[in-house]
Amino acid sequence: MKEILSVVGARPQFIKAAMVSRALKEAGIKERLIHTGQHYDDNMSTIFFDELDIPSPDINLEVGSGSHARQTGEIMVRLEEHLLQNDPPDCVLVYGDTNSTVAAAVTARKLHIPVAHVEAGLRSFNMLMPEEINRMVTDRLSDYLFCPTQTACDHLRKEGLTTGVSLTGDVMYDAVVHFSSTPVPATGHFSEGTYVLATVHRAENTDDPDRLAGIIQGLGSVGLPVLFPVHPRTESRLKGIRLPENISVIEPLSYVQMLHAIKGAFRVFTDSGGIQKEAIWLETPCITLREETEWVETLDRSWNVLVGADPVRIKSALDIEPESPPPALGRVGDVSASFRIASILASA
Ligand code: UD1
Repeated sequence: MKEILSVVGARPQFIKAAMVSRALKEAGIKERLIHTGQHYDDNMSTIFFDELDIPSPDINLEVGSGSHARQTGEIMVRLEEHLLQNDPPDCVLVYGDTNSTVAAAVTARKLHIPVAHVEAGLRSFNMLMPEEINRMVTDRLSDYLFCPTQTACDHLRKEGLTTGVSLTGDVMYDAVVHFSSTPVPATGHFSEGTYVLATVHRAENTDDPDRLAGIIQGLGSVGLPVLFPVHPRTESRLKGIRLPENISVIEPLSYVQMLHAIKGAFRVFTDSGGIQKEAIWLETPCITLREETEWVETLDRSWNVLVGADPVRIKSALDIEPESPPPALGRVGDVSASFRIASILASA
């Protein structure tokens, strides 16, 4: 493999790319990095490139916000233009389940460029989630399917996808191992174990006023201070809602600050995919504000509990004590996921 074109656009993709970009470089692969511009605020984008030492994107497609069709379509149009006007890469590498992921996969595939998907095979079996549609389409179009878990490989097999599938482990685990001991200046928020951390950004929660109200009511009743770094989508939906006094809404945190906030929390409440795993890796029990999870391994021994948006279940989940040890997930054998992915691409 001579040149990879990596496409990133949203916060969790910057974190994954930080690890894979390093490994590609070590494997002697040239990388062209394209930022779609899906996330564009400094604290949703630039801060990650600086803190995680990710090479500056070669190109920013600057698509910004929009409806799903508009955002996905704009990325496709602008990426296609780039691909047609420049030497084609040997492969397009995409991450996760965002509109940037599916847009790049469709565009590359129609130009007969091989597609590699990091975090292939994840399924929630909830077709109301835009992310589920993005995952299914991307997996169907990918030549290289890099699965973080055996469960993910099994999902692909059941869908008849067996060629190009590799169980690699989880690049987000590599990131936690790499960055969790990085010191951060004290944020002065709360001292260890005396607060809970909350994040909410999934459309199913933010765009349904009843669910959002249920979550806020639940968090208001937990009897501990709630540190709530707020995603721009959620911030706009919270306007006009009176928040309970124990909830402190703060700006989005950097990745390293977030790892420290997760580690120091008594519990983490989240609807994010990545944060469920980060909580387990940092040994903080997780309470997931959804009815299902793609990361079913996290549910073992009650380290992760699904509570939806129900205030009663949110409050009572605080009393659930997980059993030690936390579930082992993320690592396959003694080789990091990023290294494994780079090696497969290098020998392709
Ligand atoms: C996207 C992904 C989701 C991923 C998440 C990580 C899709 C369908 N969803 O959701 O899978 O878990 O990223 O955060 O791709 N906004 C800003 N500033 C920014 C970024 C976004 O104000 O820097 C606003 C936008 O105006 C938009 C809202 O936040 O209204 C949502 O952004 P969007 O890019 O649609 O997706 P996310 O909710 O972030």
